[in-house]
Amino acid sequence: MTSTPTTRAVPIPAPHSSGCPFGPPPAYTDAAATAPLTRAHLPGGESCWLATGYAEVRTILSDRRFSSDVRHPTFPLLVPGRRELIAANPSFLRLDDPEHARLRRMVTGDFLVKRVAALRPGIQRIVDEALDAMTAGRTEADLVAEFALPVPSLVICLLLGVPYDDRDRFQALSRTLLNNKSTLEQLTAAQDEILDYLRDLAARKRARPEDDILSRLVVRDDLTLDDVASTGVLLLVAGHETTANMISLSTALLLEQPEQIARLADPAALPGAVEELLRLLTIVHTGLPRVALEDVELGGETIRAGEGVIAMLSTANRDAEVFGGVDRRPTDELDLDRDARRHMAFGFGVHQCLGQPLARAELQIALESLFRRLPGLRLAVTEGEREFRTDSFIYGMRSLPVTW
Ligand code: HEM
Repeated sequence: MTSTPTTRAVPIPAPHSSGCPFGPPPAYTDAAATAPLTRAHLPGGESCWLATGYAEVRTILSDRRFSSDVRHPTFPLLVPGRRELIAANPSFLRLDDPEHARLRRMVTGDFLVKRVAALRPGIQRIVDEALDAMTAGRTEADLVAEFALPVPSLVICLLLGVPYDDRDRFQALSRTLLNNKSTLEQLTAAQDEILDYLRDLAARKRARPEDDILSRLVVRDDLTLDDVASTGVLLLVAGHETTANMISLSTALLLEQPEQIARLADPAALPGAVEELLRLLTIVHTGLPRVALEDVELGGETIRAGEGVIAMLSTANRDAEVFGGVDRRPTDELDLDRDARRHMAFGFGVHQCLGQPLARAELQIALESLFRRLPGLRLAVTEGEREFRTDSFIYGMRSLPVTW
């Protein structure tokens, strides 16, 4: 690593502030206030760049001179030593084109906007049933365990063809894989187990195909069983933990600002309101890792070939120029009428979230239904007692006790 530090290096991941649990760690917002590119250091001690500016993050995510290939020897890692583990069976999330495009293409059609539009009645039914079960004869529940997690888990299970009865197992494995405090031993065991699980399931579907994504993938002769398993793990993990955390965080935030909840009841305002929640909460709090393949001049600095970069979506999504509007409204506040459409909570460029139409549909249906059916919804603990998931690549809530 050759560049000269310009400011004090920021730790990645940085600690969250207990005072402002919905925002990104203060070290990132402080860095963003100083310069769009800052020196940072990873848990293994290596230095890298932290990109916090909107334009810089957008460039890094869309410029082919920045790679997502985890096999690159200096690709930035949040868990030291994890390279060989991920590289043993990388999903397309951690590959560059053409390998990335070849594998992503196999599942693009399943998540197109018009395909997801056809799933809406089914998602509404799943949401209604989860709310019926949660409220039957009761006035208090943990919203994470009984609503936010079951809804997207069940939806992705149905699409993939994964038995929902196995949820305890794959939810626990996903949490280990996403936890940035997991040891290498824990990660290895979890990765082996979840890949074996998907390989077995796919092999059984080859013998007896059903109407689901895994069955369609496993009968193709241009995919190996390992390709199918790594794609299956990516879709299963990304498909439930992310949306689940967005549902619980959005609910907790809206309960702090109940005057905004009425906007969800207006069908014309609902999609925009969800974009604003996605922007402000930007749950991929640890940022997106990339490695420079060539020297790149960016944000007044030179990123040298081989240097790692963390593209921080959460600070980019608070850029006042992009999201402040003409009247320069504060971008660290929730404003459900804001035009937040240019947010990058789903990333940007070729790796931009494949599941975003599904996530949007789930969030719109889940949040509208929750607040319509439970107008008296409120926290059953004090704000200080809420438990946030601060040790995960995906920010979220461990539990959210509510009453109605
Ligand atoms: C609110 C929910 C979600 C958020 C905030 C989110 C966020 C993201 C982000 C930031 C990326 C880019 C990663 C990178 O460039 O390195 C990504 C990629 C991805 N997401 Fe999501 N995601 C969500 C829901 C989903 C769902 C429901 C699925 C279901 C299938 C999904 C599947 C994927 C896949 C397959 C990729 C990899 C795309 C690629 O590498 O080409 N995500 N997501």
